[in-house]
Amino acid sequence: MREKTTPTVPDPGARAKETADAPSTGARLLAAALLTRRQFTAGSIAATTAAASGLSLPGIGCGPADSPVTNADATLGFIVNGARVELGIDLRSSLLDVLREQLQLTGAKKGCDHGQCGACTVHLDGRRVASCLTAAVQADGREITTIEGLSASDGRLHPMQQAFIDHDALQCGYCTPGQIMAAVACVREGNAGSAEQIREYMSGNLCRCGAYTAIVAAIQQAAPEIEGT
Ligand code: FES
Ligand code: FES
Repeated sequence: MREKTTPTVPDPGARAKETADAPSTGARLLAAALLTRRQFTAGSIAATTAAASGLSLPGIGCGPADSPVTNADATLGFIVNGARVELGIDLRSSLLDVLREQLQLTGAKKGCDHGQCGACTVHLDGRRVASCLTAAVQADGREITTIEGLSASDGRLHPMQQAFIDHDALQCGYCTPGQIMAAVACVREGNAGSAEQIREYMSGNLCRCGAYTAIVAAIQQAAPEIEGT
C-alpha cells in the first residue's frame, strides 16, 4: 500500500475544500461579489466573536459534551474561552481535533498537522502552543483560549484583531487565527520591540499569501495597547 504523504506547506485552497467549516466555492464567490475584502474580514472576525459568546458551544456548563466520539477513553475537563467544559475523548486525540471536531471551535486551522505552519496556534494557560502537536490530555484541568475567545465579552474586538483589519493583514485568511493568537503571545512575551524582533518571534507562523509586511505593521499598532493592559 502506498503511504499517504502530507504536504509540509499548507495549501489554503485545498484545505478550505476539505474542512467542513469552509464555505462552498459558490458561496465564497457570492460573498466576494457582495462584499469588499475589508467588510468580509470584519464579518468573519465578528462571527468568531459570536461563537465566543457561547452561542453554540456544546458541553459548556452542562456536563459531557454532545461528542461525536464513540470510543471515548477518558473524560477530561478544561476551561475553554472562560467556560468549563467536560467531555469524553479518545486519548489519541490532538487538542486541535478536540477543539475543531468535538467543540466546533473551528477558528484554529489544520494546516500542516506537523507543527510547521502555526495555523493551529492557541493559548494554553496563556502560552502559545501548536494545538496539532499538543495531546488533548495535556490540556486536562488547564485553560485554553482560542481565537473565538479573544474578543471582549461585549463583542468588542481585541486590539490585535482590529489591527489586522486596519492593516489588511491577510489575503485568504486561512493563517489569520493562528497569526493573531501568536501575535498576542508575541507581544505579551515582550518580543515585539522592533520589526526585526517581531519577524523573528513570529517566524513559526507561515502565511502562504505573503502578508508578512502588513502582519508586522498590525502587531506594531496593537502592541502598545496590549502592553498597557
Ligand atoms: S497545523 Fe501546522 S503547526 Fe499545527
Ligand atoms: S495564508 Fe492566506 S492570508 Fe496567510
